[in-house]
Amino acid sequence: MSSLFRKKPIQTLLAQSQNKSLDRSLSLFDLILLGVGVVIGTGIFVITGVVAAESAGPSIIISFILAGLACALAAFCYAEFSSSIPVSGSVYTYTYATLGELIAFLIGWDLMLEYVIAMSAVAAGWSSYFQSLLAGFHILLPDSLTSAPGSERGGIFNLPAAVIILLITFIVSRGVKESTKFNNIIVILKIAIILLFVVVGIFYVKPENWTPFMPFGVDGIVVSAATVFFAYLGFDVIANASEEVKNPQKSMPIGIIASLAICTALYMLVSFILTGMVKYTKLNVDYPVTFALEQVGQNMVAGIISLGALIGITTVILALVFAQVRLTYAMSRDGLLPGLFSKVHNRYKTPFANTWLTGFVAAGIAGFIDLSTLAHLVNMGTLAAFTLISIAVIVLRVKQPELKSSFRVPFVPVFPIVSAGLCLFLAYSLPGITWISFIIWIAAGAIVYFLYSRRHSALIDNKAD
Ligand code: ALA
Repeated sequence: MSSLFRKKPIQTLLAQSQNKSLDRSLSLFDLILLGVGVVIGTGIFVITGVVAAESAGPSIIISFILAGLACALAAFCYAEFSSSIPVSGSVYTYTYATLGELIAFLIGWDLMLEYVIAMSAVAAGWSSYFQSLLAGFHILLPDSLTSAPGSERGGIFNLPAAVIILLITFIVSRGVKESTKFNNIIVILKIAIILLFVVVGIFYVKPENWTPFMPFGVDGIVVSAATVFFAYLGFDVIANASEEVKNPQKSMPIGIIASLAICTALYMLVSFILTGMVKYTKLNVDYPVTFALEQVGQNMVAGIISLGALIGITTVILALVFAQVRLTYAMSRDGLLPGLFSKVHNRYKTPFANTWLTGFVAAGIAGFIDLSTLAHLVNMGTLAAFTLISIAVIVLRVKQPELKSSFRVPFVPVFPIVSAGLCLFLAYSLPGITWISFIIWIAAGAIVYFLYSRRHSALIDNKAD
């Protein structure tokens, strides 16, 4: 029984991270841009439209604030962890040190779902902007090959979504490193096109479009918050970079919270202008931002934004592939997943098989399942992870009171309890099918743990507890 709760000692984790020869080269500025780069993608560029049309109307701005609040609370908890245990591996590593092996495995398993499905969902959004860009050149691809079965367009396979994932997999598997300079340029481009939309769009706002402001009532706002939550997903990826950051104790909390604040501000601006430009009932499209500009005759700006969104969304997929491969690599190194996941390619020096396995699975899912189903499932996985990290903060304070951290969540335990409560409240609004899929996935994880991971854990040899 006690083996289920065996923990990876925090001192071992810290020693491991200090022994590594990774360059501590990321500045606070790089870290904030890294966060903004992973977060802004399909959520704001794609999901906003359908949510405004179907469940929020102009009050989508409040949904963004509510979802942002849930993330901010969880971000505080992340910040405390990442400033006290600055090693990569994100929530999985944190829970391994605090809540023990079984919970850590399940959270890792949950994050695998989050990253792989997020990759597929973001790629589905990429596909929408790709098609909108081609349409600008009067090239129309057949519906059957550009949308998933079950979507309104009655497709068979979303080919562009699958192809972009496989292309990125190819690049990552060949050992291309994440380049900070490249990332910074893309992120600045992404912020620039969002501001371009705001600056051009503001001239076409008709305040009457904001009435009725809450056509779907308060319920609609909450249900929509659980969906647009997707747009915030990814800031936890910064916590993975803690071994490469200068002065992690200070930079990590500021980096996480600042990138979240920037995204919230941008999302509020975009949703406000979007619903002001076009009546919400018309926004039921896959590329709402360019659609709104086309509606007011700004085709040129719409084209620029489509291209910018396409490039910007690509880097989100890239970051998610890295996050997934790092996570399964870490779990495999700890003995909780088969050795195949941490096998490094002789020539490319990457976890080659792991990367391709990830790519093929994500590409298949992106091809066959529609965006809204995927987004709900990702949100469920993430909300579960946030709930656990909030609880873990309380456990950490009780069990390891001597651990130093440069950032401490205020008002513990009230603050983490509110954070966990808000996440559960949002999860409660997600569809029944999402809950069932999630429960099946976690149950499958428990089976894998008891049949495989528990017996192969690296902690067995170390006899560490
Ligand atoms: N937050 C990321 C996006 O919206 C996943 O694309």
